[in-house]
Amino acid sequence: MRKRLIITVSLLTAFCAMTARADEGMWLPSLIGNRIADMQEKGFRLNAEDIYSINQASLKDAVVLFGRGCTGELVSPEGLLLTNHHCGYGQIQQHSSVEHDYLKDGFWAMSREEELPNKGLTVSFLERMEDVTGIILKGYSPEMSESERAGLVKQNSDALIKEVTQEGKGLRARVEALYYGNQYFLFLYREYPDVRLVGAPPSSIGKFGGDTDNWMWPRHTGDFSIFRIYADSDNNPAPYSPDNVPYQPKKYFRISTKGVQEGNFTFIYGFPGRTQEYIHSEGVRYIEETGDPHKIALRTKRLDIMSRHQAESQKVRIQYSSKHAGVANAWKKWQGEVKGIRKMKTVQTKKEYEKGFSKWAVGTEYEGLTDRIAQIYGQLEPYTFATDYYGETIRAVEAAAFASSIAKLYKEADDSLSFDSRKACDLSESFFKDYHLPIDKEIFAAMIQEFDRNMPEAFKPKYHSEMMQKYGNAKAWAEDLFAATMFTDRAAVEALSVAKDQESIGTDRDKVMNDPAVVFFNEYYNWYSKDIRPEAARLNQELQLAYRDYMRGQMEYAEAINGPKALETFYPDANLTLRVAYGHIKGYSPADGVYYTPSSTIKGIMEKDNPEIFDYNIPQRLRDIYATKDYGRWADASGEVPVCFIATNHTTGGNSGSPVINADGDLIGLNFDRVWEGTMSDIVFDPEICRNISLDVRYVLFTIEKIGGASYLFDEMTFTE
Ligand code: ARG
Ligand code: GLU
Repeated sequence: MRKRLIITVSLLTAFCAMTARADEGMWLPSLIGNRIADMQEKGFRLNAEDIYSINQASLKDAVVLFGRGCTGELVSPEGLLLTNHHCGYGQIQQHSSVEHDYLKDGFWAMSREEELPNKGLTVSFLERMEDVTGIILKGYSPEMSESERAGLVKQNSDALIKEVTQEGKGLRARVEALYYGNQYFLFLYREYPDVRLVGAPPSSIGKFGGDTDNWMWPRHTGDFSIFRIYADSDNNPAPYSPDNVPYQPKKYFRISTKGVQEGNFTFIYGFPGRTQEYIHSEGVRYIEETGDPHKIALRTKRLDIMSRHQAESQKVRIQYSSKHAGVANAWKKWQGEVKGIRKMKTVQTKKEYEKGFSKWAVGTEYEGLTDRIAQIYGQLEPYTFATDYYGETIRAVEAAAFASSIAKLYKEADDSLSFDSRKACDLSESFFKDYHLPIDKEIFAAMIQEFDRNMPEAFKPKYHSEMMQKYGNAKAWAEDLFAATMFTDRAAVEALSVAKDQESIGTDRDKVMNDPAVVFFNEYYNWYSKDIRPEAARLNQELQLAYRDYMRGQMEYAEAINGPKALETFYPDANLTLRVAYGHIKGYSPADGVYYTPSSTIKGIMEKDNPEIFDYNIPQRLRDIYATKDYGRWADASGEVPVCFIATNHTTGGNSGSPVINADGDLIGLNFDRVWEGTMSDIVFDPEICRNISLDVRYVLFTIEKIGGASYLFDEMTFTE
């Protein structure tokens, strides 16, 4: 029985804080009919069927999941695709060598023959998505235990996936839980494995501003790269073959070069990775007070060590630039996230909301639920903390990770005694290419010291305590370990690969297994997998189960207060499935007395240009173009070339490379980042501050023509004006 409530004003305010506000939301394309009136009211001129349709070609057919965590879009009838430079980075790097440094100099195929194939890279088109909750939960009864339910879900999902993937070539299906498993959706993809690199600007354009400007506005990064999808002669997916032909998409984007203005409608179509918009105040509190601050502090130490050594040597700077960027990206994001959560007083707002929820829940199946969730969080916290530390300290030691990958080869060789020496050689080569021992040793000492200081005694592995006792401090331990291990000595590691008889393989194996770096790795790994992970998993499962109820409860609560319309404001958390986010171009005020306008131009690149600073040293060609104002057709009304713009679309990691679409469904840009002050939008969205950052498509075209000299590519594109 549900208790009737007199709705007080304060309850209503608390409630509003929990539902989608203006421009918040990552909507399911197949259900976009629920949002289309709102979109049209805000300026969109197309229909729901234009966005997603299973009967006709629609915009969804021009959007792909690029690789494993980015988005891309089709811009020609011949399979030409745009994504971010940082999404194509791995491929550009793979093709680079000392003779052809495509990262540094850029790459432009001047004909189809010059396009470069990429092993392992795929793009996936969404064929269709549908609610399959009934099929997935067929046979379920409430008496079932959670693991019985999970078994049933898996069994039904596998059967469904098997059935639908038989419909055609290259089909891949996934059943995804939405709303914490209250709903299940089938996503059927067609995956194309022959995707070739067509073009990339030099990093001084594609990564302009580097880590300094990352997550920041004003921004001037030309973050794009160009690929082409190939198919067999029937337009079906096929592995790389010189006989393959350019893929003909059902749909590709027309490009609008008319330009963008504050207030214009924008729409992002892509694959956002992960959000947690409906979590409990205790989940947010952990992130704000414990998780993020500790992870930030650990990474600050790591980054300081890397930077110091990088400043001393050009070689080390290059070796660690990608590693540094990888560590710095989340490090910087978490700082913005903490600041944003504090500013929004999210914990407090959620607590108030939970109070209202609990009152309403009395007498329902949700009675006591928020307290129970708080209690689970309480039990889980030390395990989450230990997991965070394991990931950020032990796993940060490069030599240990490398040592364990070699040890793994010996373990795999156990039965057949056929040690994979080729693989060992490859691993060794790629490890030592970018390894600087002094950095690793210092990081080891710093991370172990922090582990020792912050891990509660009862949670420390015995090995850790013994070693700290033996050496007195982590630095002394580091000196000893790095002097004794063979895994910092390339010759020693490669000697393992020389052809051998079984007996000496056995000797090598013993040597490897007893190596201090392998022992170090194994000891902490065993601690983590025996003492931490199982209990963390058990509690997390309990938490997920409670969240399944809480999610449903939050929706019923909203409905009880605001009527059935309120349900439309609940979008499922992101889970790397195709979503629509819409908003408009808009500046913001990051702090008192400061206002940021929403677009940047080439003028700002020149203001930042500095040959002395690596991140801001632009190609001479760009300086020359600026000096002579040789912009061709790409200048805007002010006479400058537009570079980036910000808008209110709700995006997250995975949306990189997503098409930014105008009111007519035409391409105006590529999403690639968010503003730092708004990165809490994975947890709580503030329409005043949260902005996605996009590259203006006109800067893409300008760069292709003026820097790449590859304007022949325009012949296959369609421009609206
Ligand atoms: N912040 C963007 C994202 O989360 C871009 C990252 C790549 N760029 C960089 N400078 N690290 O992926
Ligand atoms: N750069 C991010 C990505 O790789 C997008 C930024 C964000 O998190 O919004 O997807």
